[in-house]
Amino acid sequence: MANDYIVKDIALAEYGRKELDIAETEMPGLMALREEYGESKPLKGSRIVGSLHMTIQTAVLIETLVALGADVRWASCNIFSTQDHAAAAIAASGVPVFAIKGQSLVEHWDYLDKSFMFEDGPNLILDDGGDATLYILLGARVEQGEDELIAIPKSEEEEAIFAQIKKRMAASPGWFTKMRTQIVGVSEETTTGVHRLYDLKKQGQLPFPAINVNDSVTKSKFDNKYGCKESLVDGIRRATDTMMAGKVAVVMGYGDVGKGSAASLRGAGARVKVTEVDPICALQAAMDGFEVVLLEDVVADADIFITTTGNKDVIRIEHMREMKDMAIVGNIGHFDNEIQVAALKNHKWTNIKEQVDMIEMPNGNRLILLSEGRLLNLGNATGHPSFVMSASFTNQVLAQIELWTRGDNYENDVYILPKHLDEKVARLHLAKIGVKLTELNAEQAAYIGVTPEGPFKPEHYRY
Ligand code: NAI
Repeated sequence: MANDYIVKDIALAEYGRKELDIAETEMPGLMALREEYGESKPLKGSRIVGSLHMTIQTAVLIETLVALGADVRWASCNIFSTQDHAAAAIAASGVPVFAIKGQSLVEHWDYLDKSFMFEDGPNLILDDGGDATLYILLGARVEQGEDELIAIPKSEEEEAIFAQIKKRMAASPGWFTKMRTQIVGVSEETTTGVHRLYDLKKQGQLPFPAINVNDSVTKSKFDNKYGCKESLVDGIRRATDTMMAGKVAVVMGYGDVGKGSAASLRGAGARVKVTEVDPICALQAAMDGFEVVLLEDVVADADIFITTTGNKDVIRIEHMREMKDMAIVGNIGHFDNEIQVAALKNHKWTNIKEQVDMIEMPNGNRLILLSEGRLLNLGNATGHPSFVMSASFTNQVLAQIELWTRGDNYENDVYILPKHLDEKVARLHLAKIGVKLTELNAEQAAYIGVTPEGPFKPEHYRY
């Protein structure tokens, strides 16, 4: 099909390709998989629909899936995260992609729908945050007569997805149910999407096996942590150019993303405070040297507020009313409902530049809101660096191979990749940064109850 893509400007392809060439040198895991599987093409026959931030790093992932034999169509999972030159390079390579930085919510669901439009439909989903999975499963339930689902959309987000579901149902009756049957599995990238999958499983609504990529150690303990450590401050700087040294920053949540975010701000010289609900994470934060506080107690004095919880309503309107003039407010969790942005809609907004808004509060104080409350490291900067995304995406490719070649071995449940593959992903990233690994001799290995080749830890080990 001619021009089977929607990108901002196809002329950006050449620039995108140059950055892709650089990214490949920083993504040893993906390049090693191309080397290992390029000839045998284990993904031959697969038709993968991808819904994941359309960045340069994702472009290297897409080209790896293609090199392994997959047919691929792609959309971004976030309206602000696309790098238009990356999307252009992918479109120019002949892979259908539908993603523009700053697309509307309506376009978000329309583009996702377009990414499903293989001639015979897809058979695998590669998801980030669960929107592609949600689209099919929700659509199928509505198609099966659960109309009450669609009756009263509760948010702009829901309105947009239901409008798209209705459009698809009118154009192709029975389509969602057919897709639900023919998809053989999903691999999910992030904490929020993984929560959705376990929920689906609990409700008996998971119709295919799912691989939880997020909880590979080489994903959540690296991308979520070290990735945010680099990209959080990058996003705040590109958005505001504010001096961070000496400022008081509050990080809400001290899970993997919170740990990386707090470290990021500390590294920039900010005085960082943390809020938590989980006593274990609160104790970790305290013992890492952060003051653990209640948001209410510090809200009037802090300069920078970052949510990292994957929860909703963490910064509420009553908090924002208390903040000082020009406080910076942003979120690095997956969805925009961590901050009650909807409650700000009737205030005066002044757009400063793309993904940076100044909002006037009733008392005259102004807030700087980043990426309208959507994940700011991808909205205001370019997300995590290639090297750490290589680890995440190597897990993604291994998960797709597993689902495609051995899917029959799995129930309709949520699985984590086996530890030997997790260790393999890490191993593939050692040489690039000059890491020399000590080898166990047979006696030492026996003494700690492992084999010299690994796995080196029991399942319950927490890293
Ligand atoms: P996690 O579960 O490890 O951490 C979340 C933490 O927030 C937990 O410790 C929890 O106790 C705490 N929390 C929950 N409600 C809270 C509240 N009301 N106040 C204070 N703390 C609260 O999850 P993880 O892996 O850190 O992910 C967090 C979010 O970030 C998810 O939405 C995930 O999808 C997203 N994510 C974003 C990335 C990015 O590049 N922007 C990268 C990876 C994940």
